[in-house]
Amino acid sequence: MTHSKIIGTGASVPEKVLTNSDLEEFLDTSDEWISTRTGIKERRVSVNESAVDLSEGAANEAIKAAGLTPDDIDLIIVGTVTPDMSFPSTACFLQERLGVRPSVPAFDVSAACSGFLFALDTADKYIVSGAAEKVLVVGVDIFSRIVDWKDRATCVLFGDGAGAVVLSKSSDKGEGLLSSNIHSDGSLWRSLFAPGATAYNPFKPDSGEDTNPYVQMHGGETFKLAVKTIAAACNEALMAAGLKSEDVSILIPHQANERIITAVAKRLGLTDSQVCINIDRYGNTSAGSIPIALDEVVRGGRVKSGDILLFVSFGGGLTWASTLVKW
Ligand code: UT7
Repeated sequence: MTHSKIIGTGASVPEKVLTNSDLEEFLDTSDEWISTRTGIKERRVSVNESAVDLSEGAANEAIKAAGLTPDDIDLIIVGTVTPDMSFPSTACFLQERLGVRPSVPAFDVSAACSGFLFALDTADKYIVSGAAEKVLVVGVDIFSRIVDWKDRATCVLFGDGAGAVVLSKSSDKGEGLLSSNIHSDGSLWRSLFAPGATAYNPFKPDSGEDTNPYVQMHGGETFKLAVKTIAAACNEALMAAGLKSEDVSILIPHQANERIITAVAKRLGLTDSQVCINIDRYGNTSAGSIPIALDEVVRGGRVKSGDILLFVSFGGGLTWASTLVKW
């Protein structure tokens, strides 16, 4: 039976750093409120970088780390809800930038903060079915373009960035993706959403007038749902692979709020050294958060061969997902 394994990682974030003190200059907020409620100290915001620019930087690193060239890639999947254009997809732009062979399929998946794990799950299914062998999987979001910079309840939470992996066919059953689970509950979409430009209907001129196109979130409600759902998703991945939380070498969770991450870690009985947190430097980068954190622990030498990595996400949709990987 064919399996899939991650053979290269990469990440790319915009140059501009926006600190909590910078936000204090134009918002009724404070470093103290943001740090204690979320764990965020600063985030990156894109001035000149587009979604495909960030994706390209992350993808080039991942392909190089895998010891491959763009010619080896036979599928590109990008998780994003902030593409540069409605169409073509970010994946098609990326195909041109990298020089990946024409005719290789390239498409985006939309699952907000779960976008990377939904894309990784899709890539895994392509590999297991025999339809692809080397898949470039990217998670990228530029929330600085879809938050209302006058709304302190949301804009302080997000940052921009991209991460990428190359997922490859493997015949060694004991390594690679041990379990991958994706879920959605559309009845809960009102907890977290962004209407965007499509809220406006030119044939019904008053339809978009009062519509706020920006990210809107019921923070407290989303927080409670996130802790419960993320803990359950972690258990689902572990049970499917016949493992326990003590077997986890590193939990790499979506970085939405440090308090959510520590509450989940406590429920699972994980120690600080078993959990990856980088929200202090990047904020919530949506689909970028898990692959950026993964690249950081891999390049930082925190991951050894045989380690068990647990990825878990939660976001708009609502969507949630978990992936268990033996490195
Ligand atoms: O990635 C997708 C999933 N996202 C999440 O899971 C995020 C989940 N939610 C959260 O992380 C938290 O709910 C927030 C960080 C968004 C908010 O934290 P909270 O402890 O739930 O605060 P709150 O919304 O209950 O607001 C408490 C107070 C309010 O003032 P009053 O009404 O008590 O006077 C807010 O107006 O804090 C006020 N507030 C702020 N004050 C300073 C809200 N935002 C800010 C701000 N600066 N930026």
